[in-house]
Amino acid sequence: MTESSTNKLLNGDACHRTSNGRKSSKNGFVKNHCSLQLPQNYSRPREKNQNGTHNSSLYKKPFLESFEETPLLVAVFTYMSYGILTIFGYFRDFLRNWNIEKCNMAQEREEQKDFVPLYQDFENFYNRNLYIRIRDTWNIPVCCPPGATMDLGERLTFDYNWTFKYTGKVMKGIINIGSYNYLGFAENTGACNIADVATTQKYGVGVSSTRCEMGNLDIHGELETLVARFLGVESAMTFGMGFATNSMNIPALTGKGCLILSDELNHASLVLGARLSGSTIRVFKHNNMQSLEKLLRDAIVHGQPRTHRPWKKILILVEGIYSMEGSIVRLPEVIALKKRYKAYLYLDEAHSIGALGPNGRGVVDYFGLDPKDVDIMMGTFTKSFNGAGGYIGGKKELIDYLRCHSHSALYATSMSPPVAQQIITAMRIIMGEDGTTQGAHRLRQLSENTAYFRRKLNDMGFIIYGNKDSPVVPMMLYMPAKIGAFGREMLKEISA
Ligand SMILES: Cc1ncc(COP(=O)(O)O)c(C=O)c1O
Repeated sequence: MTESSTNKLLNGDACHRTSNGRKSSKNGFVKNHCSLQLPQNYSRPREKNQNGTHNSSLYKKPFLESFEETPLLVAVFTYMSYGILTIFGYFRDFLRNWNIEKCNMAQEREEQKDFVPLYQDFENFYNRNLYIRIRDTWNIPVCCPPGATMDLGERLTFDYNWTFKYTGKVMKGIINIGSYNYLGFAENTGACNIADVATTQKYGVGVSSTRCEMGNLDIHGELETLVARFLGVESAMTFGMGFATNSMNIPALTGKGCLILSDELNHASLVLGARLSGSTIRVFKHNNMQSLEKLLRDAIVHGQPRTHRPWKKILILVEGIYSMEGSIVRLPEVIALKKRYKAYLYLDEAHSIGALGPNGRGVVDYFGLDPKDVDIMMGTFTKSFNGAGGYIGGKKELIDYLRCHSHSALYATSMSPPVAQQIITAMRIIMGEDGTTQGAHRLRQLSENTAYFRRKLNDMGFIIYGNKDSPVVPMMLYMPAKIGAFGREMLKEISA
């Protein structure tokens, strides 16, 4: 629970200021800490991001998030490492310019030497001089489903990671700590697999048309009905790509004269959708309700810039679980604010759907809220369901409107039938409609694994971020050399 020392938690757990009576840190965060029944050997780290007070009465259980402060020495060494690598990068670019060092990078053609450089932005510099040093541990081809362990294609480099040669051998049983295969549906055996094969035999893989032309299959309708039932909303629509679900539907909902209030750590697809919509965008601090409320109040009081007319629409964009921070949205408070200021709420559940809540129905289920309080429920099928694509759920009028106005509904080819089948089967298993308790078992296993993994990493002294219930567990390595070394060690760690 991240709130002031005077507040009390609903279940009676008391919050108190972090040990040692430390004051606010330099970045302004006040380090708070909550006492919860934790295992005796569990030493909770110093925390930050307790930015402001929160309305605890809206939560039915403790809301515990930890963002341990970077130790000063680690911060100094990390900045120094990046500084040294950058200086070396500029030096090596200088050598490359003078043909003293062999140049492996993309370059302007001879006849375009006088043009403004096309590729020489900072990202390119970073890839060329920093990322290249640890490239051997990234993008290794995976030769199996992304389960708990994976088989990877062995590669060798003879030019310091510029190019790789495949040996033809497969490294088996490498521990996978990166995929979003929350419920373990990324399998090539079992119920999903059998159903997917049968669907491929019936429909084939491709559809070759959009939903509104020749690509509307009965299986798409079946999926949408199921998704609506799963979410507890009136209606749902599905799309072939999760990223496009955000980037193409937000512009269908808002435009000029509308205001979007977006969490500063929102996913790129939400950011792109907001920009494409042409709306005015204002960014609030991550999961900070004071910051959101201030923007809402200002928006109501001042209206649009210059004319001061009221905004046509105010849309709040948040995610369920933030995939890089492992934090969970303070949904009860966001809903209270959106009701108070009469704004609309767009919730991206890409990482929380299937992975959070007693029934796996996402962040709404986790907090025990009413799905009808969220105006636009968005999510993807790429993580918990091991499929592809995304959905929008909500009122029937909303979905009917999007079917006619969303670019991804009108212009994108519809979802591949075996993918739709994969989602249907996985969702039915989660709902227990397959007649087994497999879904409940997977949900319980994920929650136990999350608690165990977080506790063990903490005990081992790693700095991890996020909510105690979040299956996204960001582990901070900080120094670039450590990132490479960690990757190389993981490649040696064959699972028993
Ligand atoms: C919050 C969020 N929204 C949308 C997406 C895009 O989904 P997809 O990868 O299915 O295209 C992602 C991808 O990771 C995500 O994290």
